[in-house]
Amino acid sequence: MADRVYIFDTTLRDGEQAPGYSMNLEEKIRMAKTLEQLGVDIIEAGFAISSPGDFESVRAIAAAVENVTVASLARALKKDIDAAWNAVKEARRPRIHVFLATSDLHLEYKLKMTREEALERIRENVTYARSLCDDIEFSLEDATRTDLDYMCQVVQLAIECGATTINLPDTVGYAVPSEIENMVRYVREHVKDIDKAVISMHCHNDLGMAVANTISGIQAGARQVECTLCGIGERAGNAALEEIVMLLRTRQDALPYETGIETREITRSARLLSSITGVKIFPSKAIVGANAFAHESGIHQHGMMANSRTYEIMTPESVGVSQTSLVLGKHSGQHAFSRKLAELGYTVTREEEDRLFAEFKKTCDRKKTISDKDIVALVESTEETESRIWSLESFVVNSGNHMDSTACISLRKDGKVYKDVAIGTGPVYASLRAVEKIIRHPFSLDDYQLQAVTEHRDALGEVLVKVSDGSGTYRGRGVSTDVIEASILSALAAVNKMLGGKGGGMTSGASASSMSFENDMLMDHTDKSVD
Ligand code: KIV
Ligand code: ZN
Repeated sequence: MADRVYIFDTTLRDGEQAPGYSMNLEEKIRMAKTLEQLGVDIIEAGFAISSPGDFESVRAIAAAVENVTVASLARALKKDIDAAWNAVKEARRPRIHVFLATSDLHLEYKLKMTREEALERIRENVTYARSLCDDIEFSLEDATRTDLDYMCQVVQLAIECGATTINLPDTVGYAVPSEIENMVRYVREHVKDIDKAVISMHCHNDLGMAVANTISGIQAGARQVECTLCGIGERAGNAALEEIVMLLRTRQDALPYETGIETREITRSARLLSSITGVKIFPSKAIVGANAFAHESGIHQHGMMANSRTYEIMTPESVGVSQTSLVLGKHSGQHAFSRKLAELGYTVTREEEDRLFAEFKKTCDRKKTISDKDIVALVESTEETESRIWSLESFVVNSGNHMDSTACISLRKDGKVYKDVAIGTGPVYASLRAVEKIIRHPFSLDDYQLQAVTEHRDALGEVLVKVSDGSGTYRGRGVSTDVIEASILSALAAVNKMLGGKGGGMTSGASASSMSFENDMLMDHTDKSVD
Protein backbone atom coordinates (compact mmCIF):
# COMPACT_ATOMS: atom_id res chain seq x y z
CA MET A 1 0.00 0.00 0.00
CA ALA A 2 1.24 3.48 -0.86
CA ASP A 3 2.21 5.87 1.95
CA ARG A 4 -0.75 7.83 3.29
CA VAL A 5 -0.59 11.63 3.10
CA TYR A 6 -3.02 13.49 5.36
CA ILE A 7 -4.92 16.41 3.87
CA PHE A 8 -5.22 19.39 6.21
CA ASP A 9 -7.65 21.82 4.62
CA THR A 10 -7.34 25.46 5.63
CA THR A 11 -9.87 26.95 3.18
CA LEU A 12 -11.89 28.19 6.15
CA ARG A 13 -8.93 29.77 7.94
CA ASP A 14 -5.98 30.80 5.72
CA GLY A 15 -8.31 30.84 2.68
CA GLU A 16 -11.06 32.80 4.36
CA GLN A 17 -8.51 35.38 5.57
CA ALA A 18 -7.88 36.45 1.96
CA PRO A 19 -9.70 39.57 0.72
CA GLY A 20 -13.00 38.77 -0.98
CA TYR A 21 -13.34 35.27 0.49
CA SER A 22 -15.03 35.90 3.80
CA MET A 23 -18.04 33.71 4.57
CA ASN A 24 -20.81 33.88 7.11
CA LEU A 25 -21.56 31.17 9.66
CA GLU A 26 -24.06 29.28 7.55
CA GLU A 27 -21.77 29.34 4.52
CA LYS A 28 -18.83 28.07 6.57
CA ILE A 29 -20.88 25.17 7.88
CA ARG A 30 -21.95 24.24 4.33
CA MET A 31 -18.37 24.43 3.20
CA ALA A 32 -17.17 22.32 6.14
CA LYS A 33 -19.73 19.60 5.42
CA THR A 34 -18.64 19.58 1.79
CA LEU A 35 -14.98 19.26 2.83
CA GLU A 36 -15.98 16.34 5.03
CA GLN A 37 -17.66 14.66 2.05
CA LEU A 38 -14.60 15.40 -0.03
CA GLY A 39 -12.66 13.32 2.47
CA VAL A 40 -10.18 15.77 3.96
CA ASP A 41 -8.57 14.53 7.17
CA ILE A 42 -8.40 17.82 9.06
CA ILE A 43 -10.45 21.00 8.69
CA GLU A 44 -8.86 24.14 10.08
CA ALA A 45 -12.12 25.87 10.86
CA GLY A 46 -10.79 29.27 11.89
CA PHE A 47 -8.78 31.30 14.36
CA ALA A 48 -11.05 31.24 17.40
CA ILE A 49 -9.54 34.20 19.30
CA SER A 50 -9.64 36.53 16.30
CA SER A 51 -13.32 37.52 16.64
CA PRO A 52 -16.54 36.31 18.28
CA GLY A 53 -17.75 35.37 14.78
CA ASP A 54 -14.71 33.20 14.17
CA PHE A 55 -15.08 31.56 17.57
CA GLU A 56 -18.72 30.79 16.87
CA SER A 57 -18.04 29.35 13.44
CA VAL A 58 -15.25 27.08 14.70
CA ARG A 59 -17.59 25.89 17.46
CA ALA A 60 -20.47 25.33 15.05
CA ILE A 61 -18.28 23.42 12.58
CA ALA A 62 -16.92 21.26 15.40
CA ALA A 63 -20.51 20.31 16.20
CA ALA A 64 -21.60 19.89 12.57
CA VAL A 65 -19.02 17.41 11.25
CA GLU A 66 -18.19 13.90 12.41
CA ASN A 67 -15.58 12.14 10.38
CA VAL A 68 -12.90 14.75 10.32
CA THR A 69 -10.54 16.40 12.80
CA VAL A 70 -11.44 20.04 13.53
CA ALA A 71 -8.60 22.43 14.30
CA SER A 72 -8.47 26.02 15.47
CA LEU A 73 -5.43 28.22 15.12
CA ALA A 74 -3.89 29.85 18.22
CA ARG A 75 -0.85 32.03 18.80
CA ALA A 76 1.49 30.72 21.50
CA LEU A 77 -0.55 32.51 24.15
CA LYS A 78 -2.71 31.06 26.90
CA LYS A 79 -5.77 33.16 25.97
CA ASP A 80 -5.57 32.01 22.33
CA ILE A 81 -5.20 28.39 23.35
CA ASP A 82 -8.17 28.66 25.72
CA ALA A 83 -10.32 30.15 22.95
CA ALA A 84 -9.19 27.49 20.47
CA TRP A 85 -9.91 24.69 22.93
CA ASN A 86 -13.32 26.06 23.91
CA ALA A 87 -14.21 26.27 20.23
CA VAL A 88 -13.09 22.77 19.21
CA LYS A 89 -13.62 20.70 22.32
CA GLU A 90 -17.03 19.38 21.25
CA ALA A 91 -15.58 18.00 18.02
CA ARG A 92 -15.23 14.26 17.77
CA ARG A 93 -11.58 14.78 16.96
CA PRO A 94 -10.39 18.20 18.21
CA ARG A 95 -6.99 19.71 17.47
CA ILE A 96 -5.29 22.89 18.70
CA HIS A 97 -2.90 24.43 16.20
CA VAL A 98 -0.35 26.61 18.01
CA PHE A 99 2.12 28.75 16.08
CA LEU A 100 5.07 31.02 16.71
CA ALA A 101 7.47 32.57 14.22
CA THR A 102 11.01 31.23 14.48
CA SER A 103 13.05 33.09 11.83
CA ASP A 104 15.45 35.71 13.21
CA LEU A 105 13.70 38.28 11.03
CA HIS A 106 10.31 37.67 12.63
CA LEU A 107 11.75 37.23 16.12
CA GLU A 108 13.63 40.52 16.00
CA TYR A 109 11.20 42.77 14.16
CA LYS A 110 7.76 41.29 14.73
CA LEU A 111 7.92 39.52 18.07
CA LYS A 112 10.86 41.48 19.56
CA MET A 113 12.05 38.33 21.24
CA THR A 114 15.31 36.44 21.49
CA ARG A 115 15.58 32.83 20.34
CA GLU A 116 15.73 31.76 24.01
CA GLU A 117 12.59 33.69 24.87
CA ALA A 118 10.81 32.06 21.95
CA LEU A 119 11.85 28.62 23.20
CA GLU A 120 10.39 29.49 26.59
CA ARG A 121 7.11 30.63 25.01
CA ILE A 122 6.91 27.38 23.06
CA ARG A 123 7.70 25.25 26.12
CA GLU A 124 5.03 26.96 28.21
CA ASN A 125 2.28 27.10 25.61
CA VAL A 126 2.65 23.78 23.84
CA THR A 127 2.71 22.12 27.27
CA TYR A 128 -0.42 24.02 28.23
CA ALA A 129 -2.20 23.15 24.97
CA ARG A 130 -1.33 19.49 25.42
CA SER A 131 -2.79 19.54 28.94
CA LEU A 132 -6.15 20.33 27.27
CA CYS A 133 -6.07 18.30 24.07
CA ASP A 134 -4.26 15.17 22.85
CA ASP A 135 -3.87 16.39 19.28
CA ILE A 136 -1.51 19.37 19.09
CA GLU A 137 0.01 20.84 15.98
CA PHE A 138 2.89 23.27 16.35
CA SER A 139 3.85 25.53 13.43
CA LEU A 140 7.17 27.31 13.11
CA GLU A 141 5.96 30.35 11.20
CA ASP A 142 8.47 31.43 8.51
CA ALA A 143 10.24 28.08 8.86
CA THR A 144 11.87 28.34 5.44
CA ARG A 145 13.82 31.41 6.61
CA THR A 146 14.67 29.91 10.00
CA ASP A 147 18.18 28.78 10.89
CA LEU A 148 18.19 24.98 10.50
CA ASP A 149 19.90 24.17 13.80
CA TYR A 150 17.61 26.47 15.73
CA MET A 151 14.68 24.88 13.86
CA CYS A 152 15.77 21.44 15.10
CA GLN A 153 15.96 22.74 18.68
CA VAL A 154 12.42 24.15 18.40
CA VAL A 155 11.02 20.98 16.84
CA GLN A 156 12.57 18.71 19.50
CA LEU A 157 11.24 20.97 22.26
CA ALA A 158 7.72 21.12 20.77
CA ILE A 159 7.62 17.32 20.51
CA GLU A 160 8.86 16.93 24.09
CA CYS A 161 6.08 19.29 25.21
CA GLY A 162 3.46 17.18 23.46
CA ALA A 163 3.13 18.33 19.84
CA THR A 164 1.96 15.49 17.62
CA THR A 165 2.28 17.35 14.30
CA ILE A 166 5.13 19.69 13.36
CA ASN A 167 4.38 22.13 10.57
CA LEU A 168 7.22 23.79 8.64
CA PRO A 169 5.53 26.59 6.67
CA ASP A 170 6.92 28.49 3.74
CA THR A 171 4.98 31.46 5.06
CA VAL A 172 6.04 33.93 2.40
CA GLY A 173 6.28 31.54 -0.56
CA TYR A 174 10.01 32.12 -0.88
CA ALA A 175 11.50 28.63 -1.03
CA VAL A 176 12.37 26.45 -4.01
CA PRO A 177 11.73 22.69 -3.98
CA SER A 178 15.35 21.66 -3.31
CA GLU A 179 15.43 23.87 -0.19
CA ILE A 180 12.21 22.34 1.10
CA GLU A 181 13.59 18.87 0.53
CA ASN A 182 16.81 19.80 2.35
CA MET A 183 14.90 21.36 5.27
CA VAL A 184 12.65 18.35 5.83
CA ARG A 185 15.52 15.87 5.51
CA TYR A 186 17.66 17.93 7.90
CA VAL A 187 14.91 17.95 10.52
CA ARG A 188 14.36 14.21 10.11
CA GLU A 189 18.06 13.52 10.50
CA HIS A 190 18.77 15.89 13.39
CA VAL A 191 15.71 15.80 15.65
CA LYS A 192 15.93 12.85 18.03
CA ASP A 193 12.19 12.38 18.55
CA ILE A 194 10.98 13.33 15.08
CA ASP A 195 9.31 9.93 14.63
CA LYS A 196 6.88 10.83 17.43
CA ALA A 197 5.30 13.54 15.24
CA VAL A 198 3.93 13.91 11.73
CA ILE A 199 5.78 16.48 9.62
CA SER A 200 3.50 18.90 7.79
CA MET A 201 4.02 21.28 4.85
CA HIS A 202 2.22 24.61 4.49
CA CYS A 203 3.41 26.44 1.38
CA HIS A 204 2.31 29.82 0.10
CA ASN A 205 2.22 30.63 -3.58
CA ASP A 206 3.91 34.04 -3.86
CA LEU A 207 6.28 32.78 -6.56
CA GLY A 208 3.93 30.13 -7.92
CA MET A 209 5.81 27.31 -6.17
CA ALA A 210 3.31 26.23 -3.52
CA VAL A 211 2.32 22.88 -5.02
CA ALA A 212 5.84 22.03 -6.20
CA ASN A 213 7.24 22.84 -2.76
CA THR A 214 4.53 20.81 -1.04
CA ILE A 215 5.33 17.80 -3.22
CA SER A 216 9.02 18.16 -2.42
CA GLY A 217 8.14 18.13 1.25
CA ILE A 218 6.20 14.89 0.79
CA GLN A 219 9.10 13.29 -1.07
CA ALA A 220 11.40 14.22 1.79
CA GLY A 221 9.11 12.68 4.40
CA ALA A 222 6.25 15.08 5.24
CA ARG A 223 2.98 13.17 5.67
CA GLN A 224 0.54 16.04 6.20
CA VAL A 225 -0.06 18.79 3.66
CA GLU A 226 -1.89 22.02 4.31
CA CYS A 227 -3.87 23.34 1.38
CA THR A 228 -7.03 25.11 0.27
CA LEU A 229 -9.62 24.61 -2.44
CA CYS A 230 -8.60 26.52 -5.57
CA GLY A 231 -5.46 27.59 -3.69
CA ILE A 232 -7.16 30.54 -2.00
CA GLY A 233 -5.32 32.15 0.91
CA GLU A 234 -3.24 35.06 2.11
CA ARG A 235 -1.74 37.13 -0.76
CA ALA A 236 -1.11 34.75 -3.70
CA GLY A 237 -2.73 31.94 -1.77
CA ASN A 238 -1.83 28.47 -0.53
CA ALA A 239 -1.12 25.20 -2.30
CA ALA A 240 -4.28 24.10 -4.13
CA LEU A 241 -5.83 20.95 -2.66
CA GLU A 242 -7.12 19.69 -6.01
CA GLU A 243 -3.71 20.05 -7.65
CA ILE A 244 -1.84 18.16 -4.93
CA VAL A 245 -4.43 15.39 -4.80
CA MET A 246 -4.70 14.90 -8.56
CA LEU A 247 -0.94 15.08 -8.96
CA LEU A 248 -0.52 12.26 -6.46
CA ARG A 249 -3.28 10.27 -8.10
CA THR A 250 -2.23 10.83 -11.71
CA ARG A 251 1.50 10.33 -11.17
CA GLN A 252 1.44 7.27 -8.89
CA ASP A 253 4.43 6.01 -10.88
CA ALA A 254 6.58 8.93 -9.66
CA LEU A 255 4.70 9.76 -6.45
CA PRO A 256 3.48 6.59 -4.73
CA TYR A 257 1.40 8.29 -2.04
CA GLU A 258 -2.28 8.03 -1.16
CA THR A 259 -4.84 10.45 0.20
CA GLY A 260 -8.34 9.81 1.51
CA ILE A 261 -9.89 12.28 -0.95
CA GLU A 262 -12.93 11.23 -2.97
CA THR A 263 -11.70 12.94 -6.11
CA ARG A 264 -15.12 12.90 -7.80
CA GLU A 265 -16.22 15.46 -5.20
CA ILE A 266 -13.49 17.95 -6.21
CA THR A 267 -15.34 19.92 -8.87
CA ARG A 268 -18.52 20.21 -6.83
CA SER A 269 -16.55 21.42 -3.78
CA ALA A 270 -14.68 24.04 -5.81
CA ARG A 271 -17.93 25.22 -7.39
CA LEU A 272 -19.55 25.55 -4.02
CA LEU A 273 -16.66 27.71 -2.82
CA SER A 274 -17.01 29.89 -5.90
CA SER A 275 -20.75 30.13 -5.49
CA ILE A 276 -20.52 31.03 -1.80
CA THR A 277 -17.77 33.62 -2.19
CA GLY A 278 -18.91 34.97 -5.55
CA VAL A 279 -15.35 34.67 -6.87
CA LYS A 280 -15.25 32.97 -10.25
CA ILE A 281 -12.85 30.12 -10.91
CA PHE A 282 -10.29 31.22 -13.49
CA PRO A 283 -11.13 29.25 -16.70
CA SER A 284 -7.65 27.79 -17.09
CA LYS A 285 -7.26 26.92 -13.41
CA ALA A 286 -5.75 23.43 -13.22
CA ILE A 287 -8.24 20.64 -12.47
CA VAL A 288 -11.34 22.78 -11.78
CA GLY A 289 -11.27 25.57 -14.38
CA ALA A 290 -13.94 25.46 -17.10
CA ASN A 291 -11.25 24.83 -19.71
CA ALA A 292 -9.38 22.16 -17.78
CA PHE A 293 -10.93 19.43 -19.94
CA ALA A 294 -11.91 21.44 -23.03
CA HIS A 295 -10.25 20.61 -26.33
CA GLU A 296 -10.73 23.36 -28.83
CA SER A 297 -8.09 22.97 -31.53
CA GLY A 298 -8.61 20.62 -34.47
CA ILE A 299 -5.37 18.71 -33.87
CA HIS A 300 -6.28 18.12 -30.25
CA GLN A 301 -9.83 17.09 -31.09
CA HIS A 302 -8.57 14.64 -33.68
CA GLY A 303 -6.14 13.14 -31.19
CA MET A 304 -8.84 12.91 -28.56
CA MET A 305 -11.13 11.05 -30.93
CA ALA A 306 -8.39 8.56 -31.79
CA ASN A 307 -7.44 8.02 -28.17
CA SER A 308 -8.35 10.34 -25.31
CA ARG A 309 -5.00 9.66 -23.63
CA THR A 310 -3.29 11.72 -26.34
CA TYR A 311 -4.32 14.97 -24.67
CA GLU A 312 -6.02 13.94 -21.44
CA ILE A 313 -3.87 12.79 -18.54
CA MET A 314 -6.83 12.29 -16.23
CA THR A 315 -10.50 11.84 -16.97
CA PRO A 316 -13.05 14.57 -16.31
CA GLU A 317 -15.12 11.96 -14.47
CA SER A 318 -12.29 11.39 -11.99
CA VAL A 319 -12.80 14.93 -10.66
CA GLY A 320 -16.56 14.82 -10.91
CA VAL A 321 -17.11 16.46 -14.29
CA SER A 322 -19.76 14.35 -15.96
CA GLN A 323 -19.56 13.94 -19.71
CA THR A 324 -23.29 14.41 -20.09
CA SER A 325 -24.73 10.95 -20.18
CA LEU A 326 -28.26 12.23 -19.74
CA VAL A 327 -29.48 15.20 -21.76
CA LEU A 328 -32.43 17.07 -20.34
CA GLY A 329 -35.04 19.10 -22.17
CA LYS A 330 -38.60 20.23 -21.91
CA HIS A 331 -39.98 16.69 -22.11
CA SER A 332 -37.86 15.37 -19.25
CA GLY A 333 -39.72 14.31 -16.16
CA GLN A 334 -38.84 14.78 -12.52
CA HIS A 335 -37.31 11.32 -12.33
CA ALA A 336 -34.70 12.14 -14.99
CA PHE A 337 -34.13 15.51 -13.35
CA SER A 338 -33.57 13.85 -10.00
CA ARG A 339 -31.04 11.44 -11.57
CA LYS A 340 -29.23 14.37 -13.14
CA LEU A 341 -28.97 16.14 -9.78
CA ALA A 342 -27.46 13.00 -8.25
CA GLU A 343 -25.10 12.62 -11.22
CA LEU A 344 -23.89 16.17 -10.67
CA GLY A 345 -23.29 15.34 -7.02
CA TYR A 346 -26.18 17.24 -5.42
CA THR A 347 -28.12 15.79 -2.51
CA VAL A 348 -31.34 17.70 -2.04
CA THR A 349 -34.50 17.18 -0.03
CA ARG A 350 -37.75 16.33 -1.79
CA GLU A 351 -38.99 19.87 -1.17
CA GLU A 352 -35.86 21.42 -2.67
CA GLU A 353 -36.08 19.07 -5.63
CA ASP A 354 -39.68 20.12 -6.30
CA ARG A 355 -38.69 23.77 -6.24
CA LEU A 356 -35.71 23.14 -8.50
CA PHE A 357 -37.79 21.11 -10.90
CA ALA A 358 -40.29 23.96 -11.20
CA GLU A 359 -37.42 26.36 -12.01
CA PHE A 360 -36.02 23.86 -14.49
CA LYS A 361 -39.37 23.62 -16.29
CA LYS A 362 -39.57 27.42 -16.53
CA THR A 363 -36.10 27.48 -18.07
CA CYS A 364 -37.08 24.77 -20.56
CA ASP A 365 -39.79 27.05 -21.90
CA ARG A 366 -37.15 29.62 -22.80
CA LYS A 367 -34.20 27.45 -23.77
CA LYS A 368 -34.05 24.43 -26.09
CA THR A 369 -31.32 22.35 -24.50
CA ILE A 370 -30.40 22.34 -20.89
CA SER A 371 -26.77 21.53 -20.20
CA ASP A 372 -25.14 20.42 -16.96
CA LYS A 373 -23.79 23.94 -16.51
CA ASP A 374 -27.35 25.29 -16.67
CA ILE A 375 -28.48 22.84 -14.00
CA VAL A 376 -25.53 23.74 -11.75
CA ALA A 377 -26.34 27.44 -12.14
CA LEU A 378 -30.01 26.82 -11.32
CA VAL A 379 -29.19 24.80 -8.21
CA GLU A 380 -26.73 27.36 -6.97
CA SER A 381 -28.98 30.33 -7.58
CA THR A 382 -31.95 28.60 -5.97
CA GLU A 383 -29.85 27.96 -2.86
CA GLU A 384 -29.56 31.74 -2.69
CA THR A 385 -33.28 32.25 -2.50
CA GLU A 386 -33.97 29.81 0.30
CA SER A 387 -34.55 32.50 2.88
CA ARG A 388 -36.86 34.69 0.82
CA ILE A 389 -38.41 37.76 2.34
CA TRP A 390 -39.00 39.53 -0.96
CA SER A 391 -39.56 37.61 -4.18
CA LEU A 392 -39.98 38.78 -7.74
CA GLU A 393 -43.54 38.79 -9.00
CA SER A 394 -43.09 40.53 -12.37
CA PHE A 395 -41.18 43.28 -14.12
CA VAL A 396 -41.43 45.45 -17.22
CA VAL A 397 -38.45 47.41 -18.47
CA ASN A 398 -38.36 49.99 -21.22
CA SER A 399 -34.95 50.86 -22.57
CA GLY A 400 -33.29 52.37 -25.64
CA ASN A 401 -30.16 54.19 -26.77
CA HIS A 402 -31.69 57.71 -26.88
CA MET A 403 -33.71 57.61 -23.69
CA ASP A 404 -33.58 56.93 -19.99
CA SER A 405 -34.65 53.44 -18.97
CA THR A 406 -37.76 52.87 -16.89
CA ALA A 407 -38.52 49.83 -14.79
CA CYS A 408 -41.83 48.84 -13.29
CA ILE A 409 -41.33 46.09 -10.71
CA SER A 410 -43.73 44.06 -8.60
CA LEU A 411 -42.35 42.24 -5.59
CA ARG A 412 -44.09 39.89 -3.20
CA LYS A 413 -43.72 39.84 0.56
CA ASP A 414 -45.86 37.87 3.02
CA GLY A 415 -48.44 37.17 0.33
CA LYS A 416 -48.86 40.84 -0.62
CA VAL A 417 -47.70 42.41 -3.88
CA TYR A 418 -45.93 45.78 -3.87
CA LYS A 419 -45.22 47.79 -7.01
CA ASP A 420 -43.06 50.78 -7.96
CA VAL A 421 -41.52 52.50 -10.94
CA ALA A 422 -38.06 54.03 -11.32
CA ILE A 423 -36.02 55.76 -13.98
CA GLY A 424 -32.34 55.12 -14.55
CA THR A 425 -29.57 55.58 -17.07
CA GLY A 426 -29.74 51.88 -17.90
CA PRO A 427 -32.22 49.04 -17.42
CA VAL A 428 -30.30 47.40 -14.56
CA TYR A 429 -29.97 50.69 -12.76
CA ALA A 430 -33.66 51.49 -13.17
CA SER A 431 -34.66 48.00 -11.97
CA LEU A 432 -32.52 48.04 -8.87
CA ARG A 433 -33.66 51.55 -8.08
CA ALA A 434 -37.27 50.31 -8.23
CA VAL A 435 -36.38 47.40 -5.93
CA GLU A 436 -34.83 49.86 -3.48
CA LYS A 437 -37.96 52.02 -3.53
CA ILE A 438 -40.23 49.04 -2.86
CA ILE A 439 -38.24 47.54 0.00
CA ARG A 440 -37.62 51.00 1.53
CA HIS A 441 -34.14 50.03 2.61
CA PRO A 442 -31.32 51.94 0.86
CA PHE A 443 -28.37 49.89 -0.27
CA SER A 444 -25.30 50.47 -2.36
CA LEU A 445 -24.09 48.20 -5.10
CA ASP A 446 -20.44 47.36 -4.48
CA ASP A 447 -19.87 44.85 -7.21
CA TYR A 448 -21.74 43.52 -10.22
CA GLN A 449 -20.62 40.69 -12.50
CA LEU A 450 -22.55 39.35 -15.45
CA GLN A 451 -21.62 36.31 -17.47
CA ALA A 452 -23.16 33.67 -19.69
CA VAL A 453 -23.40 30.20 -18.17
CA THR A 454 -23.16 28.44 -21.55
CA GLU A 455 -22.04 29.36 -25.03
CA HIS A 456 -25.19 29.74 -27.10
CA ARG A 457 -27.42 32.72 -27.82
CA ASP A 458 -30.11 31.39 -25.51
CA ALA A 459 -27.58 30.95 -22.70
CA LEU A 460 -28.55 31.55 -19.12
CA GLY A 461 -27.12 34.80 -17.79
CA GLU A 462 -25.66 34.65 -14.31
CA VAL A 463 -25.35 37.80 -12.23
CA LEU A 464 -23.33 38.05 -9.02
CA VAL A 465 -23.70 41.16 -6.89
CA LYS A 466 -22.38 42.50 -3.64
CA VAL A 467 -24.56 45.06 -1.91
CA SER A 468 -24.12 46.86 1.40
CA ASP A 469 -26.20 48.97 3.74
CA GLY A 470 -23.64 50.20 6.25
CA SER A 471 -24.16 47.24 8.57
CA GLY A 472 -22.52 44.68 6.31
CA THR A 473 -21.92 43.47 2.79
CA TYR A 474 -24.09 40.78 1.25
CA ARG A 475 -23.69 38.64 -1.85
CA GLY A 476 -26.43 37.55 -4.18
CA ARG A 477 -26.68 35.43 -7.30
CA GLY A 478 -29.39 35.34 -9.94
CA VAL A 479 -29.78 33.21 -13.04
CA SER A 480 -32.13 33.65 -15.95
CA THR A 481 -32.20 33.69 -19.74
CA ASP A 482 -33.06 37.39 -19.27
CA VAL A 483 -30.14 39.35 -17.82
CA ILE A 484 -32.41 42.01 -16.30
CA GLU A 485 -34.35 39.31 -14.49
CA ALA A 486 -31.03 37.74 -13.36
CA SER A 487 -29.95 41.16 -12.08
CA ILE A 488 -33.15 41.68 -10.10
CA LEU A 489 -32.97 38.13 -8.69
CA SER A 490 -29.35 38.59 -7.62
CA ALA A 491 -30.17 41.89 -5.89
CA LEU A 492 -33.15 40.30 -4.14
CA ALA A 493 -31.01 37.35 -2.97
CA ALA A 494 -28.55 39.81 -1.41
CA VAL A 495 -31.25 42.07 -0.02
CA ASN A 496 -33.05 39.12 1.59
CA LYS A 497 -29.82 38.20 3.39
CA MET A 498 -29.44 41.83 4.41
CA LEU A 499 -32.95 42.09 5.82
CA GLY A 500 -32.79 38.64 7.36
CA GLY A 501 -29.53 39.56 9.08
CA LYS A 502 -27.65 36.86 7.20
CA GLY A 503 -24.42 37.05 5.31
CA GLY A 504 -23.07 40.13 7.06
CA GLY A 505 -19.57 40.64 8.33
CA MET A 506 -18.16 40.35 4.83
CA THR A 507 -15.98 43.35 5.28
CA SER A 508 -13.07 42.55 3.03
CA GLY A 509 -13.05 43.76 -0.51
CA ALA A 510 -16.14 45.85 -0.10
CA SER A 511 -14.69 49.07 1.16
CA ALA A 512 -12.15 49.67 -1.58
CA SER A 513 -14.57 49.47 -4.47
CA SER A 514 -17.73 50.51 -2.67
CA MET A 515 -19.78 53.32 -4.19
CA SER A 516 -23.20 54.50 -3.35
CA PHE A 517 -25.99 53.01 -5.39
CA GLU A 518 -27.29 56.57 -5.65
CA ASN A 519 -24.14 57.48 -7.58
CA ASP A 520 -25.03 55.81 -10.84
CA MET A 521 -22.78 52.88 -9.97
CA LEU A 522 -24.59 50.70 -12.43
CA MET A 523 -23.97 52.82 -15.46
CA ASP A 524 -20.51 51.61 -16.26
CA HIS A 525 -19.94 48.60 -14.07
CA THR A 526 -21.96 45.97 -15.82
CA ASP A 527 -18.92 43.90 -16.67
CA LYS A 528 -16.80 44.62 -13.61
CA SER A 529 -15.09 41.58 -12.17
CA VAL A 530 -13.62 41.04 -8.73
CA ASP A 531 -11.12 38.49 -10.01
O1 KIV B 1 1.59 30.77 6.55
C1 KIV B 1 1.75 30.45 7.74
O2 KIV B 1 2.86 30.40 8.26
C2 KIV B 1 0.56 30.16 8.51
C3 KIV B 1 0.77 29.61 9.88
C4 KIV B 1 -0.07 30.32 10.87
C5 KIV B 1 0.56 28.14 9.88
O3 KIV B 1 -0.54 30.28 8.02
ZN1 ZN C 1 -0.42 30.38 5.82
